[in-house]
Amino acid sequence: MIVAIDGPAGSGKSSLSRALAKSTDFVYLDTGAMYRALTLYCLENGINVHSQSSVEQAAQDIDVRFGDAVASEDPELGQNVFLNGKEVTRDIRTSQIDENVSIVALYPGVRSAMVARQRSFANQRNIIAEGRDIGTAVFPEAEIKIFLSADAQQRALRRTIEREGGDPTKPGAAVKDEQLYEKIYADMLQRDAIDEERTESPLKPASDAIHLDTTHLTLDQAVDKVRSLIIQKTASL
Ligand code: DC
Repeated sequence: MIVAIDGPAGSGKSSLSRALAKSTDFVYLDTGAMYRALTLYCLENGINVHSQSSVEQAAQDIDVRFGDAVASEDPELGQNVFLNGKEVTRDIRTSQIDENVSIVALYPGVRSAMVARQRSFANQRNIIAEGRDIGTAVFPEAEIKIFLSADAQQRALRRTIEREGGDPTKPGAAVKDEQLYEKIYADMLQRDAIDEERTESPLKPASDAIHLDTTHLTLDQAVDKVRSLIIQKTASL
C-alpha cells in the first residue's frame, strides 16, 4: 500500500509521516531530501543552479540513498541521507539549501530522475511517501492521498523551532530568534510560490486527496486521523 502525503513546507508532512512509519510497518520516504541532496551537490561543486542542463546532468550523476527508515529523533531529520556515499543528513537542512532547492526542483530532467528513484524505492513495499507531487505524479495510484495545509505563519513557526533545535510538536515550544523566524517566513512564501506555480508537477492536491488542515491539530490528532484511514483502507482491500 502507498500512502501519499503532500503539502507545503511546514504543514507537518515530515512529523506526520515519521510518526506513522514508526507506528506501522510502513517504510518512510522523504522525497524532498532527494531534491535537497542534489542542491547540496550543485552548491558544493560550483554548479550554477540556474543552469538547467548542468543541474539535469548532475541529477543523473549523483547517487542518493537512504539509511534507516526512521533514523533520528531530531524532528527535522527524517532519514539518514547519503550523497555519493557520504552522509549529508544534516547538511541538507540549511537556509542556503532552502533558498536554492525550489529552483533545482523546477527542471523536468531533475524531476524525472528523482521520480524514477522514488518509484524504485517503493518496489512493492508498504510506504509512506511525503513530498509535493506524490499523489499527482509519483504515485497517482496511491491507495491513500493526504494533502496537508496550515497557515503560513504557523508553518514558519514550526520550521524555525526545528531549526533552532527544538521540537514544534511539544507543548510550549516557542521561537527564540525573531529574525530567523522572519527570514524563514519570507523564504517559505517564496518557495511556496515557486512550487505552486511551476509547470512541471506543481504543488497541488490530487483530485482524490483528503485535505487535512493541521494549523490547530496536535501531531497525535493528525496521526490518529491518518492511521484510522489506513486501518479502514487495509480492511477494505
Ligand atoms: O519537503 P522539503 O522542504 O524537504 O522539500 C524541499 C523542496 O523540494 C521543496 O521546496 C520543493 C521540492 N520538492 C519537490 O519539488 N517535490 C517533492 N516531491 C518534494 C520536494
